[in-house]
Amino acid sequence: MLTSEAIMPDKPNDGKDPILNGSIGSITKTEHNDEYVILRGEHANLVFLFLNEHTLRMKLFFGEEPDLSATPAIVEQAAKNAALTVEEREGHIVISSSELHAVVDPLNFSLRIFNARGELLLEEKSIAWEDKNKVTFTASKSRDSYFYGLGEKTGFLDKNGERYEMWNSDVYEPHVQDTDALYQSIPFLIHYEYGKPAYGLLLDNPGRSIFDMRTREDRYSVSVTSGELDLYIWIGPSIKDAVSRMTEVTGRTYMPPKWSIGYQQSRYSYMNQEEVLDIARTFREKKIPCDVLYLDIHYMDEYRVFTWDSKRFPKPKEMMAELKELGFELVPIVDPGVKKDPKYPIYKEGVKNGYFCRKLEGDIFIGKVWPGLSAFPDFTDDAAAEWWGDHHRFYVKHGINGIWNDMNEPSVFNDSKTMDLDVVHGNNGNPKTHEEWHNLYGLLMSKATFEGMKRSMSGERPFVLTRAGYTGIQRFATVWTGDNRSFWEHMAMSIPMVLNLGMSGIAFAGPDVGGFSHHASGELVARWTQMGAFFPFFRNHSVIESRRQEPWMFGEQIEAICREYIGIRYRLMPYLYSLFYEAHTTGIPIVRSLIMEYPEDRNVSNVCDQFLLGPSLLVAPIYRPGVCSRAVYLPEGIWYDYWTGEKLEGGRPVLADAPLERMPLYVKAGSIIPEQELRQSMNESSEQPLRVRIRVGSGHDGIHRFSQYEDDGRTYAFEAGRFTLREWSVQQSPGGIRVACDYASDGWPCGEELILALSPVESKPTKISSSGNVETDAWIYDEAKQTLQVTIKVKHSFELQIR
Ligand code: GLC
Repeated sequence: MLTSEAIMPDKPNDGKDPILNGSIGSITKTEHNDEYVILRGEHANLVFLFLNEHTLRMKLFFGEEPDLSATPAIVEQAAKNAALTVEEREGHIVISSSELHAVVDPLNFSLRIFNARGELLLEEKSIAWEDKNKVTFTASKSRDSYFYGLGEKTGFLDKNGERYEMWNSDVYEPHVQDTDALYQSIPFLIHYEYGKPAYGLLLDNPGRSIFDMRTREDRYSVSVTSGELDLYIWIGPSIKDAVSRMTEVTGRTYMPPKWSIGYQQSRYSYMNQEEVLDIARTFREKKIPCDVLYLDIHYMDEYRVFTWDSKRFPKPKEMMAELKELGFELVPIVDPGVKKDPKYPIYKEGVKNGYFCRKLEGDIFIGKVWPGLSAFPDFTDDAAAEWWGDHHRFYVKHGINGIWNDMNEPSVFNDSKTMDLDVVHGNNGNPKTHEEWHNLYGLLMSKATFEGMKRSMSGERPFVLTRAGYTGIQRFATVWTGDNRSFWEHMAMSIPMVLNLGMSGIAFAGPDVGGFSHHASGELVARWTQMGAFFPFFRNHSVIESRRQEPWMFGEQIEAICREYIGIRYRLMPYLYSLFYEAHTTGIPIVRSLIMEYPEDRNVSNVCDQFLLGPSLLVAPIYRPGVCSRAVYLPEGIWYDYWTGEKLEGGRPVLADAPLERMPLYVKAGSIIPEQELRQSMNESSEQPLRVRIRVGSGHDGIHRFSQYEDDGRTYAFEAGRFTLREWSVQQSPGGIRVACDYASDGWPCGEELILALSPVESKPTKISSSGNVETDAWIYDEAKQTLQVTIKVKHSFELQIR
């Protein structure tokens, strides 16, 4: 615990402010080939290349030749180079792709980056260093600058005025606004000013780095403390484009099995097989939908990974059989620490084959974690990663399809809280110190896990959950935001955290619902479950010895609220799954900040107590106790209150009623939301037809669209075209309502029967005509509710005209 002593007056300068003496100086020589341009300066050199026409890579180097290899953050296929040109224009060196121009003043190096329309994106202010491994890049910002992204950070949505460290850290202390680093490091930011094009900037350096948007009014800085200054810059022009283009290079969210989008229940720990089964049975008895239960560290034999504790879990196969019968998946925790025990086969194999991390002098790095003294696999080495991945067969053969990676910062119970910085990772013959590659440890562990599971799962999709990660983690794992607390403040903070993770490319993320440590109240669990139902990752988890927080632990009212909201999520699954597919193919996050969807709206730059699920649902959680109403800002357009159907004009705040059982929720006019019947798990099949809810009445003639995606939800058959993609559109005009559905792909057999549920439809239609392969057998109009329900049988693209 810190006391006031921490702020003693007249403390000697602790040397935190580096003296940046080094600079590039003048450019003395330009060299280029088809792939890159080298600018040789008096004191250092820069290499420029384009990965594609909208991605510039710029790297500082001191030696003769640049090292153009990239870290595992970058998708290999993306690391190709696009055509570039170099010209001299009015005393400047101009390096261009078809969409970007880097304009360098060679006299005393300076750099500006423009888009093809000649708009200034980024103005470099300095590249300077203390020593060659401690380089700081600064670029201009203004009072009107907003910063988004930066991964899993505390604080609000806009990061202007903040300063953060990128150093994956196990932080059990309460996460507060001045917590500089958490478990994930995503050194990617988006710079945005209203009326100007946004740009994205990634520092690809997995050592410790600092992003400072606080210290100077007119500039922000990005500093590396070890290794190289390797920057990637993407033109927007929109915030969405910046995210989408960044994820083209760092990869997109993996397509998870559908069950992992369902509700999940965890506890540190469900202590034995009977308790696990009891929880599963209770969910089914109480008819609270749930897909996944978790096994925390107590399932193992003295915390040895790839083992069962034979007393607590004497018959894992029988337990799994009953869980499967009840429609549950089970996800066990796997930490990287391997118990140092000469009789333990995993430890023996790792030592024998040289798979563990070592110091340069050859000693295996041994650190203390849950199992006591432990060794840590060196995931930078392909052979070690493969060995680790293959061991997951142990779980797969028990019918387990998902793995929870924890403590993979890596967390070590020592003074530095992690692995010694002088550990040398083999990296297939291109060694890196732990100091240089610390932030990659979690990503590489999850990659090895994901790939190993995939190899063993005969075409089924694995699910991997991780605490630590680095840019690119979205390709291999889902991110949960670590050890939060059952504090209302932490519930509120999880909104901007998940939104900024989404704007950093990590779409499949969420916090521990109800809060991990401390003790939840029923009200908190109800409110957090209401919100969590609309987050991509939805798991309730809590720490040992805290008050239990399964949905039924607080009496009937709370239980009913949890049941209802979890149920809403299951009904929305076709909408949600389509958004996962969108994230998988475009990088656009599943939950979105208002600024992403309404970038011109000056009221939403820092809105982070409400969010959008996809384009159509606006979620406004209650994140304080005892609150039964709140202000909700509705962006431009027409919105409908989800609960009452009330039509509301946007572009203004409204006051929403929010008794405990109600979280304010709004649906955008023009929205097309496919829904399914309630089920208890994604494994439960249903004969019920899909219901496509269409909200009309926007008064605009514009066409509203939604891409609805379906596949088998479990395998990789979709990669070979076994999926159906329906492009829905709806248009309202004085002549009536036109609903069209185009099959962009029809590789997965979906039910032929569909229900179109339109509302509000002000008067009874006189005629419903159709074209295409569709039968409209029946329609029902409810005048009081102003709803129209059309049941159709459809085989292919069709169009309906409602007059
Ligand atoms: C860490 C994890 C937490 C887990 C606990 C025990 O604190 O963040 O989720 O329950 O370890 O494994």
